[in-house]
Amino acid sequence: MKDEHDATIMVIDDDVESARLLECALLPSNFNVVKAYTGRDALALLEEVLPDLILLDIIMPDLDGFEICRRVKEKVGRTGQDFIPVIMVTALSSREDKIRGLEAGADDFISKPIDLAELVAKVKSLSRIKHLHKSLHESYEELKRLERVKDLLTQMIVHDLKNPLTALMNYLEMLAIKTDKFLSPEDKFSPRNILGITDRMLRLIDNLLDITRMEEGKLKPDYADIEIGEIFLEIEHMFSAEAARNSIRLTREVKDVPVFRADRGLLVRILENLVSNAIRSIPFNRQGLIAMKAVFDKTKKRIVISVIDNGYGIPEKYLGKIFEKFEQVRMRKEGSQFNKGLGLTFCRLAIEAHGGRIDVKSREGRGSEFIFTLPA
Ligand SMILES: Nc1ncnc2c1ncn2[C@@H]1O[C@H](COP(=O)(O)OP(=O)(O)OP(=O)(O)O)[C@@H](O)[C@H]1O
Ligand SMILES: [Mg+2]
Repeated sequence: MKDEHDATIMVIDDDVESARLLECALLPSNFNVVKAYTGRDALALLEEVLPDLILLDIIMPDLDGFEICRRVKEKVGRTGQDFIPVIMVTALSSREDKIRGLEAGADDFISKPIDLAELVAKVKSLSRIKHLHKSLHESYEELKRLERVKDLLTQMIVHDLKNPLTALMNYLEMLAIKTDKFLSPEDKFSPRNILGITDRMLRLIDNLLDITRMEEGKLKPDYADIEIGEIFLEIEHMFSAEAARNSIRLTREVKDVPVFRADRGLLVRILENLVSNAIRSIPFNRQGLIAMKAVFDKTKKRIVISVIDNGYGIPEKYLGKIFEKFEQVRMRKEGSQFNKGLGLTFCRLAIEAHGGRIDVKSREGRGSEFIFTLPA
């Protein structure tokens, strides 16, 4: 990497003599100097050379220093996060000129007649800042690259976990068919119970993969006609055995909901996550009740879907946080027993991808209601 004394300084001044004077002052400190005598020449030169610092005269015949400064800063902003310090050299020391210069993006000023020692000191100091800025920017870019590689690798590994897990689930299912007759699903060692655990693992993997895709904007809903009653029925089939085992009654209610457009797979997984959470929220000794409801909000032209349970509810202090991925990490760090997974983060992102919203109402000890809307 270049050190600040190899820096290239561009001197822009219509007065050949004063440009030469600046060059002579800088050369002993091993700066490379390139010169331009008009605003247009300067802009043309900037297309070829990106200097480390610019010394810029304000009054020039074609484009004035303010305009050049603005264009330089614009160009730098467009081409990347680089930073080119600009020192304006001027005979004018008026306050207004300095303000205009600052507004145009100038980083410092030096007035004519030029104190050469001061000039060299200012150039050195700003090139040092530029040099630090550049290394910081390079480290940042490298970090971003490594982060992308790490994310990709994590995603590949998470994805590859699905194959052995699905194989395991198939074998467990075969085993469960054989053992269902004499092993109760409540028995922790029963294949049926273990299948429940692997089910949750698979959901966790799918949620994690989809959250990453949605955050990167890569997962767009695949819209199809939805008949919500039919989806509720599918969810009921999916959970009926588990609900029965836990003495939970699962009900569904659809009121005048027209066919609407949504991603069927995502919608099923949203409900799957909400109902699975609801089942786990119900204590063993309670007559559990979970209701799936859908209504049509005519005035706002949206479908309102809710999953209501009479489980142990959610403490108020967590209500605003349960849909956030980062809050979840914080809660875990605090050692909270609450919030283990990514199900609700997935639900929020999938619903927002449809242009909808999700909300929750809950009372500790009484139950919860998750409500989400989807545009009709
Ligand atoms: N219906 C509910 N009743 C009570 N608590 C709930 C309910 N739904 C969610 N929670 C709480 O919110 C937390 C976050 O739910 P989320 O679905 O995001 O993750 P998880 O269920 O812990 O794990 P995962 O869904 O990834 O298997 C849960 O751990 C639970 O404590
Ligand atoms: Mg969950």
